[in-house]
Amino acid sequence: MNILVTGGAGYVGSVVVEELLKSGNKVISLDNMQQGHKGAIHSGAEFISMDICALEALDKVFARYHFDAVVHMAAETLVEYSVTDPGRYFRSNVIGGINLLDTMLKYNVYKIIFSSTAAIYGEPQSDLIDEDHPKTPINSYGESKLMFENILKWYGRAYGLKHISLRYFNAAGATKLLGEDHCPETHLIPNVLKAAWNQSEPVKVFGADYQTRDGSCIRDYVHVRDIAQAHVLSLDKLGDTSSGAYNLGNGAGYSVFDVVRTAEKVARVKIPVKVSSRRPGDPAVLVASSHKAKQELSWKPQFPELESIIESAWKWLSEHPNGYER
Ligand code: UFG
Repeated sequence: MNILVTGGAGYVGSVVVEELLKSGNKVISLDNMQQGHKGAIHSGAEFISMDICALEALDKVFARYHFDAVVHMAAETLVEYSVTDPGRYFRSNVIGGINLLDTMLKYNVYKIIFSSTAAIYGEPQSDLIDEDHPKTPINSYGESKLMFENILKWYGRAYGLKHISLRYFNAAGATKLLGEDHCPETHLIPNVLKAAWNQSEPVKVFGADYQTRDGSCIRDYVHVRDIAQAHVLSLDKLGDTSSGAYNLGNGAGYSVFDVVRTAEKVARVKIPVKVSSRRPGDPAVLVASSHKAKQELSWKPQFPELESIIESAWKWLSEHPNGYER
């Protein structure tokens, strides 16, 4: 298949491109390079530097290539900033997304896999969140992704668009060549590993006063390659279904302190930590039931253990102590 990947130079996007190529697809990837990296662009894919908000440029891409499907990952993704700057999130994640859908329809492209998030659920009302859990986001990032899922539903009904939304829990880990490197880095695992590597700045624990077993937030970490594999399976699934939404997580919750302890075991060093105040927009606990993805997509995570996820991230950091070249 000929696949357009938006956000293809980003952390998850670059690994999705890698997996799609491995499965024999032809990939054209685009990215506005705000969070993307040159070093994460796969030489086997064609790459275009552009923003999905630039409608005319997007039109030219669709006029030039024929696509069988789109994997849409281009987005503003940081929960924290979405609390203080919601406009940026709605412009990129909703308006940019509508640009993409309208251009797809204009050029008769009717299949899309959308990168959604656990942040659409808000505070959990059960230990394991399944896809039917109430959706009451507590940050504009989650709201913007939920809005786009709903837009997909209406485009499906009105125009016959086929769509699958993959709701990632906490993407983490690395492949041999591709790893996590945001600027600024806000994510827990890279920050913990940097503290292990540098042994200078302590890693901040954002809140130790949550109603959880050790007071810190609990998350469900899932290996980026397992997430990428779910995209490949979802593209197959769109052959025989018109829509779907799937959680991607491992069903195991780890606290911030659990992550620090596991990283200490992997890196074999003591990691300095400093408890600081809560970060706005953070739910206390987010843990997935991914039963549906396993049943319907035959999704089988290869790295379900936190330790193996952190090991892969540590290996990548050891080989790229300064991240990607800038
Ligand atoms: N945290 C710290 N110190 C840090 C960084 C994070 O204590 O230096 C804490 C956060 O407060 C949070 C947890 O570690 O409780 C995980 O934080 P991340 O920033 O790594 O990830 P988030 O849970 O905020 O967000 C990620 C993705 C979102 C997605 C969400 C779904 O970035 O896109 O997972 O769970 F929506």
